Amino acid sequence: MRPFDGRRVLLVVAGGIAAYKSVHLLRSLRSEGAEVEVMMTGAAEHFVGRVTFEALAGRPVHTDLWTRPLAHIELGRDCDLAIVAPATADLLAAMAHGRADDLASATLLAADCPVLACPAMNTRMWEHPATVRNLEMLTEDGVRLVGPEDGPLAEGEFGVGRMAEPEQIMSVAGRLLEVDSILGGRKVVVTAGPTREAIDPVRFLGNRSSGRMGFELAASAWRRGAEVVCIHGPATVPRPHGPKMIETEDADAMLRSLRTELDGAAVLCMAAAVSDFRAASPSREKIKKEDVDAEGFRLELERGPDLLVETKEQRESSNIFTLGFALETRDGLRNARSKLEGKGMDLVALNIAGSPGSGFDVDTNRITVLDPAGTVEELPLLTKREAADRLLDRIEDQLGDGS
Ligand SMILES: Cc1cc2nc3c(=O)[nH]c(=O)nc-3n(C[C@H](O)[C@H](O)[C@H](O)COP(=O)(O)O)c2cc1C
Repeated sequence: MRPFDGRRVLLVVAGGIAAYKSVHLLRSLRSEGAEVEVMMTGAAEHFVGRVTFEALAGRPVHTDLWTRPLAHIELGRDCDLAIVAPATADLLAAMAHGRADDLASATLLAADCPVLACPAMNTRMWEHPATVRNLEMLTEDGVRLVGPEDGPLAEGEFGVGRMAEPEQIMSVAGRLLEVDSILGGRKVVVTAGPTREAIDPVRFLGNRSSGRMGFELAASAWRRGAEVVCIHGPATVPRPHGPKMIETEDADAMLRSLRTELDGAAVLCMAAAVSDFRAASPSREKIKKEDVDAEGFRLELERGPDLLVETKEQRESSNIFTLGFALETRDGLRNARSKLEGKGMDLVALNIAGSPGSGFDVDTNRITVLDPAGTVEELPLLTKREAADRLLDRIEDQLGDGS
């Protein structure tokens, strides 16, 4: 559940249409284990009823400077992070100028935790020199920003001004809440998803990998403050926010990107399901039904590159800590151990194909972790998010030991 588990977050909701998205944000914060104090400006209450926030937060919402004396001092002092979502032009102006004439602005002025503002407004308000000046001042004061995004606005216009989506806010907030990871500032490269090996211009050899495990590893490393590059094939699940994403198609392209990105890397997590085989001579033209006789035709396959083998020398000479995955149907431990040694890995996560809730295209994973010292750790059935966190914890431990 890290990094939100047991952390105190102050969610300040100001008066903009995007206040409805903050309901979803509150749900996500709560389901990740955060304790959330919600504060609404008077204008915010015109958009979403406070009862909705109270029910989801499980505690009263703070709205008034005068109801509980010193609430504005205590709330900002006792929280690990303040998120202002939506941050209106008005509240951003108040924050930039140090105003304290309502509960939200007074609390944010007194807060000594990190403040993450999620601006949302009409494009003309966003681009007005006054807002631009206010944002410059706030950035200088250390306020972090996420969004706004480009897209359709409430008024039926298009432009920059949409509040960042809750998932994006969660990943930036998670990074702000992470504490002192050994991965902070280090480069972590992750491969994710399937590869597609062309048979002809429209057909390919692929596999069922969704990209979820690799994306969760990338997101977890990014939350820990790492500089993350995620090289992925055509994945079917949403991309994580934060890491640099490089989309590739086949194993050769993934290998080319990997060789480039390994420069300066401290850690490599190889979660991509790279095809072992490819068509020996892919057709330049679409293979037509009429070209194939009634008995069918033989598709000749050849071995594709093994990315771990191909990068072994580069990884070893640059001392890049490597986590690999092994998906086995039998002799799992023996095969995983021989991969660990033969392919120069520091940690192997073993999946047994067909074990319930595990492997491709599901949200959960059951992993056994092996290291070169012979330690075998069987993790319980976990969500891929939890599994990624556990694997990153192991990487942090091993890097911390200097191994
Ligand atoms: C229908 C409607 C939608 C609004 N949407 C926004 C908005 O998205 N962003 C914004 O900065 N202000 C918006 N405003 C203006 C703010 O509600 C107004 O500036 C208010 O004083 C903000 O108060 P607060 O910052 O204390 O919440 C909107 C106003 C109305 C009437």
